Amino acid sequence: MGRRKKKVWTVREEREGDFPAIESLIETMFQNTLNFGGAQKDILSNMRSEGRFIPELSLLVEADGAIVGYLMLSELPESKTKNGKNSLLLSPVCTQEAYQHQGIATSLIQAAIEKAKQLQYQAIFLIGHPVFYSRFDFVPGKHLGIRESNGAPQDFVLVLELAPGGLEEISEVNLLI
Ligand SMILES: CC(C)(COP(=O)(O)OP(=O)(O)OC[C@H]1O[C@@H](n2cnc3c(N)ncnc32)[C@H](O)[C@@H]1OP(=O)(O)O)[C@@H](O)C(=O)NCCC(=O)NCCS
Repeated sequence: MGRRKKKVWTVREEREGDFPAIESLIETMFQNTLNFGGAQKDILSNMRSEGRFIPELSLLVEADGAIVGYLMLSELPESKTKNGKNSLLLSPVCTQEAYQHQGIATSLIQAAIEKAKQLQYQAIFLIGHPVFYSRFDFVPGKHLGIRESNGAPQDFVLVLELAPGGLEEISEVNLLI
């Protein structure tokens, strides 16, 4: 219905100097969200010191001299795909309110998918809205015989297979780590 074509934004990897601005963006965007709350910012800084953090997959978009969009893909423990690499978890993704609906999250997600493929990862999991993520070819895990084991609503447990057959050996994942 005559939707305006959205802009493609320049996405880059985070650098150490970006940490405070990213943390403040996350804190603002998730302050009212159950599961995340203010603690999301601490989860983020703890993650950076853990083995499952991947610097190339911590991505941001800048506009008007500020960080206005952020996305992280991290390794999901005990989720080995066919090639022996763990699956990835997409969380969080956010766009500052004044910049929403302009394609920033879309650009971040597309860039993350491409980089994940380059790094030979075979699958990305997330908890999110099936309609929004279907545009990136995410499907409900249950359609591939995969269930979430820690209480996430199964209809919102989504997965994108990056290599054919990559998920063959996975029947269960814990996304609420
Ligand atoms: C969801 C979010 C990241 C989208 O960012 P964005 O930069 O506006 O996204 P894009 O412009 O690329 O795409 C916008 C589309 O996202 C979809 N969308 C936006 N918010 C959504 C939500 N809460 N749930 C499902 N879909 C959503 C809509 O289909 C929208 O399309 P429209 O602009 O034509 O209405 C942003 O709204 C946000 O930061 N929300 C708060 C944090 C959050 O809930 N993150 C996701 C869970 S980790």
